Amino acid sequence: MRKLWFGLVGSAVLGVSALSGGLAWAQQDPLPEGPGKADIPSGCVSCHGAEVITAQKRTRAEWGDILTRMLGYGAQSDAQQQKAISDYLSKNFGATPETKS
Ligand code: HEC
Repeated sequence: MRKLWFGLVGSAVLGVSALSGGLAWAQQDPLPEGPGKADIPSGCVSCHGAEVITAQKRTRAEWGDILTRMLGYGAQSDAQQQKAISDYLSKNFGATPETKS
């Protein structure tokens, strides 16, 4: 019984350190490289952190809705950038309607 308990605590500690390692890495440059990344205006991460973006898995339509909302808040980008941004977001943080819970 004792052994089992230590085993459980041990794996919980391991899990937490793996998670915080991942978060520390994510803070350095949370946005993966790829076409469209340069179009994400720095304004996107001025009101909130990039983790607000990277925590999301959305369909292209949902990203479009979010972008529209962010533009309403005052995010700056032209129509061409908006297309590049939604391409980038749906490629890197995409969810298909099937896999979405
Ligand atoms: C003027 C401030 C501002 C700017 C600029 C801004 N946002 Fe936001 N964003 C917010 C606020 C406030 C919220 C929380 C309220 C909400 O979800 O509508 C939010 C929420 C979000 C969310 C979570 C939405 C959800 O439904 O879970 C995402 C994703 C996001 N922003 C992405 C972006 C992207 C991408 C850009 C750049 C195009 C951007 N934001 C620019 C203020 C801003």
